[in-house]
Amino acid sequence: MSGLRFDGKVVVITGAGNGLGKEYALYYGKKGAKVVVNDLGGSMKGTGASSSAADKVVDEIKAAGGIAVANYDSVEFGEKIIETAIKTFGKIDILINNAGILRDVSFEKMKDEDWDLIYKVHLKGTYACTKAAWPYMREQKYGRIINTSSASGVYGVFGQTNYSSAKLATHGFTLALSKEGQKRNIFVNSICPVAASRLTETIMSKEILQSLKPEYIVPLVAWLSHEDCKETGSIFELGAGYISKLRWQRNQGYFFDTPFTPEDVKSKWDEVSGFGNNVYYPLTSTEIFEIFFNKEEFLKQQKDDKTKQINPSQN
Ligand code: NAI
Repeated sequence: MSGLRFDGKVVVITGAGNGLGKEYALYYGKKGAKVVVNDLGGSMKGTGASSSAADKVVDEIKAAGGIAVANYDSVEFGEKIIETAIKTFGKIDILINNAGILRDVSFEKMKDEDWDLIYKVHLKGTYACTKAAWPYMREQKYGRIINTSSASGVYGVFGQTNYSSAKLATHGFTLALSKEGQKRNIFVNSICPVAASRLTETIMSKEILQSLKPEYIVPLVAWLSHEDCKETGSIFELGAGYISKLRWQRNQGYFFDTPFTPEDVKSKWDEVSGFGNNVYYPLTSTEIFEIFFNKEEFLKQQKDDKTKQINPSQN
């Protein structure tokens, strides 16, 4: 099998001065792409700025024979980052929204600044870079966008109400945008990486970090951003060489005879909140209407399922 190539493609990677973004940038640089290495060069808490992080990565790409340019703007000003791609290379094909910071603190002690800064970098930054790239991708009927979500957003992590909510929001953004981009060959996906970087080095042991090399995140990002890949609107959890896809699951639920009361909900709480064998994997917001407006069919199934539970031999 011949290797994946990105010749002629223009890739913008935000936060590419360190960690995962740096690995992506070095990879694309080796595979023929023209790379915009964006990095504000601040601390992991979002303070300060420096051009050296992006410059070092650009130098490394060039030293290996690749093509790259640096950009030092904060992702909040996405139009400036995309402008660097357009002015230098004339187009934008792939956007990796990767820049990130942490402001971990319990909700009780969280300051507005901790909340706002996380939202500015993760959600506003993802929006601003994508918004600026979107007209070019629409016009050329081609684009690949990867947004960086997190297991923290999917499951929630203590001390990260700001980060968890912003990270799950980036996947909501992916879901809606993938629907808008599909007809124009613009595919949008989210990843939840787990990897050794300055964001994780203080919370995990050395042994664990050893097996979580940031380069193990590159293959999925490369494939999702390749022209042969048609995946869109999906979210993947990955790290240590393992990759898996996540999806929503709806339980069977319970259809009440209307009108109904809070006491009825209490009495059927196991059916409403429990997960048994009959589960659904909805993909659109309108699928639930098939249940709302097919009550008779649903009730029949609900009754059949109950009979099955009473007479397990019928299963
Ligand atoms: P990192 O700290 O090594 O790299 C992030 C880079 O983003 C830094 O170089 C930083 O200067 C840059 N950056 C921060 N704010 C910026 C801004 N406003 N504009 C431009 N650049 C900015 O962190 P890492 O681990 O490589 O993180 C990459 C992404 O992956 C982040 O979005 C992070 O939230 C996410 N992530 C990482 C996980 C991990 O296990 N490392 C887990 C889940 C998500």
